[in-house]
Amino acid sequence: MKLLRIVDEWLAERLPMNDVKGFIRAQASKALPPHTSWFHTFGSLSLFLVVSQIVTGILLMVYYRATPETAFESVRYITAKADFGWLIRGLHAWGATLMLLMVLLHMMRTFFMGAFKKPREGTWVIGVFLFGLTLTFGFTGYLLPWNQLSYWATTIGTEMTGSIPIVGAPIKHLLLGGDAVSGETLARFYVMHVAVLPWILMMLVTVHLVLMRVQGLATLDPVGQESPADQKAGIPFFPHHVLKELMVFSVFLGAMITLVILWPTELGEKANPLETPAAIKPEWYFLPTYQLLKFFPKLLGLVIAFVPPLVLLVWPFLDRTPQRRLRRRPVSGTIGVVALILAVVLGLMGALAEQEVTIFGKKVHVDHYGIPHSIPRP
Ligand code: HEM
Repeated sequence: MKLLRIVDEWLAERLPMNDVKGFIRAQASKALPPHTSWFHTFGSLSLFLVVSQIVTGILLMVYYRATPETAFESVRYITAKADFGWLIRGLHAWGATLMLLMVLLHMMRTFFMGAFKKPREGTWVIGVFLFGLTLTFGFTGYLLPWNQLSYWATTIGTEMTGSIPIVGAPIKHLLLGGDAVSGETLARFYVMHVAVLPWILMMLVTVHLVLMRVQGLATLDPVGQESPADQKAGIPFFPHHVLKELMVFSVFLGAMITLVILWPTELGEKANPLETPAAIKPEWYFLPTYQLLKFFPKLLGLVIAFVPPLVLLVWPFLDRTPQRRLRRRPVSGTIGVVALILAVVLGLMGALAEQEVTIFGKKVHVDHYGIPHSIPRP
């Protein structure tokens, strides 16, 4: 305690500590709207995962070696031999999937509660970039173990980029560092994954959070009629909401460790550029787009695939009704639900495509387009 006082006095003689303390106190006591619910923890869980991905990522970098000769072996070493390597790698791999899931849930929460409306359009637009960044983290990280799946999924992903007219070919070449996935590609993806993307992510997350704190969480009142958060009726940020979040983080970490133990991340076989595996599919979060592209000629498909992210980006400027409550904005609610159902259906069709599955006790063959066909009896 005495030490704290000495440090405090030392700082006070040099910096405007009263202003700093006043700012922290004001932030901690700022009330949140009374409707702040468990759904409001999806944003902080996304933040928890950002931190967890950075910590586990740095630990993985201690043993990971990004060359085609060593990448696969170093990941095998991490998983099988390094102390707690299996746990760190498992948390990082599951963390990637869960982060996407959380960011999606958080986006759905802010969409359906109308939190993106004036004056929070900027928070939403930055959020859409954060979503894109999270996907890019997934894409660049997937190649790093240098196994068959990651090698060939990256080949497909970069092929798709290459088919964009005019700009596609140079972007593809820039990504690959040549004409095909090679050691050059691995080096580029690694640099993007550990050096470029994290800084952009941290800057955007900071602006996102500052905007959210300065503007306060949205209420359910219509635009222009939001009353400032009532200190009495609202929920105190500290300690109430902070304790709630800490509890959610603890349960979530427990669930993550359970997932790592019950469903460890496979490493598969080392990448072999000369042997294409039978069915290569991208990660679940790219499946809806991948599936959509199958139904259209290449160019038209790409144009169509660009529409949903663009609409998402400018959504606050399209949905201009002042109402936030879902039942008072049926059109935008219906568009949201239909888009969600479409994405889930396309994702499922993509996941089941090109294999035999049992649906309601009946064995069927699902073709390339995700359409099930009954199997003729022998
Ligand atoms: C790494 C990704 C992200 C992180 C760490 C993050 C973090 C947060 C946090 C902690 C909050 C406050 C609590 C809450 O509302 O849950 C928040 C609010 C908000 N976020 Fe995000 N977010 C991310 C991505 C996104 C995305 C993808 C969108 C939408 C496209 C988005 C839109 C918003 C909006 C509109 C608010 C204001 C909510 C309100 O006022 O009620 N965020 N974000």
